[in-house]
Amino acid sequence: MRAVTLPEDPSRREHLRALVAVGGTSALGACLDLGADGDGAGDPNAVSVPSGTDPDALPERQHAWNEALPTDEHGNVRPPEHHVLVALSLADGVDVPPSGDARETLEAALRTLERAYERSNEGLLFTLGYTPGYFDRFDEPLPDDLSLPEPGPLFPGGDPAVDAHDAVLHLASDEAAVVLEAEEALFGDRETVNGVPLEADATAVFDPLAERRRTGFVGAGLPAEHTDVPGVPDSIPAEAPFFMGFRSGFRRSQATEDRVTIESGPFAGGTTQQISTTALQLEAWFEQDNHFQRVSKLFSREHAAADLVGEYGEALEASNGLTAERIDSTAADAREHGVVGHAQKAARAREDGEPPLLRRDFNTVDGDRPGIHFLSLQRTIADFARVREAMVDEELDVPTANDGIRHYVFVDRRGNYLLPPRSLRALPPANPDGN
Ligand code: HEM
Repeated sequence: MRAVTLPEDPSRREHLRALVAVGGTSALGACLDLGADGDGAGDPNAVSVPSGTDPDALPERQHAWNEALPTDEHGNVRPPEHHVLVALSLADGVDVPPSGDARETLEAALRTLERAYERSNEGLLFTLGYTPGYFDRFDEPLPDDLSLPEPGPLFPGGDPAVDAHDAVLHLASDEAAVVLEAEEALFGDRETVNGVPLEADATAVFDPLAERRRTGFVGAGLPAEHTDVPGVPDSIPAEAPFFMGFRSGFRRSQATEDRVTIESGPFAGGTTQQISTTALQLEAWFEQDNHFQRVSKLFSREHAAADLVGEYGEALEASNGLTAERIDSTAADAREHGVVGHAQKAARAREDGEPPLLRRDFNTVDGDRPGIHFLSLQRTIADFARVREAMVDEELDVPTANDGIRHYVFVDRRGNYLLPPRSLRALPPANPDGN
């Protein structure tokens, strides 16, 4: 199979991004008409990207994506460009505990995706996670040492809606046509994936919830292509991969996949996933603040004063530049300069110098406004809550507008999920050892 060439023309990239947001058969057709899969050669109605492999040869961790993604010259992982979060509820007729047939049907459908697409940014990466509500359907609770609480407000004034459906499928690829085709094959009309016939009907197990479908994108230059969306100002740096204008996800400020993996019990090899759907106040961010203020509020005052970041983060290498001293100086920065950085605040929750969260967030213009689907993986939801509390920490003596990015980020919705190991990903029981 050929390697995939990304479209060069920005308006074409933007068109592809918009088609992912729309979803469905006609969006997939339009994507293929644009030659969106590789070089567009061959059957104009078919996706053609590198093919997959024997599912038995794949890692047990659903979240083991880093090995399958490209890295830059500093070892930072580059996330896939297109993302879809498909919200799912159990279909009518699926019993709890689910029958062996229901599990086999879902597993067969997921295995077809793995055989069809290379497990990489050029093919498809996916995870399937389950909510506390799904596990509540079982008589037996989750194992004692596994806590999967419903998301709480976490800080005063925050009262987001909660993901109450059963599961979420996260689809990610550099190819717009691939995320659309995989979704359509599982839950729509498509009968093949990358030329491979789908053998099982996933709609016998899950109903997709159209109103809860979420989409997004990451990539150098993509945010600046959205200045036609209300609330996206023209002043976004041309190269920035994220809406707030800076690179993110430096290797040393991310947890490793080992650090976020559940180590014992029947779900060993799994992880927990937290998704916050947030809106961003970008006009105030770019038009009322200058670059010095933005760097102070996202990183730290010293990052701004010593010009450590560059225009959009290009001056940073494998780390966001938060040394132990810069993290320890958070309270002093608040007192002396009246400003603290978001990353500086959040880094106070590192454990033995190691960040506990693996952030895999992406930009969105769902609902025609700018936002971030903040998706993080961590061993326990308590790790997330601890970092989120450090990010909020109202004890510091700073005006809200200078308190990291709190003034610019609004959480609309939150969901907590368990991502089981691959062997338990198809309708897991709450306590696999107990059932
Ligand atoms: C929604 C808007 C958000 C934006 C635009 C944003 C942006 C950033 C940026 C630019 C960095 C510095 C670069 C890096 O280290 O990768 C950073 C670091 C970080 N952010 Fe956020 N972030 C957001 C939300 C959150 C949330 C909700 C959390 C969860 C509590 C969070 C946790 C962190 C952590 C843990 C770090 C790294 C700290 C360390 O180095 O140990 N961020 N963020």
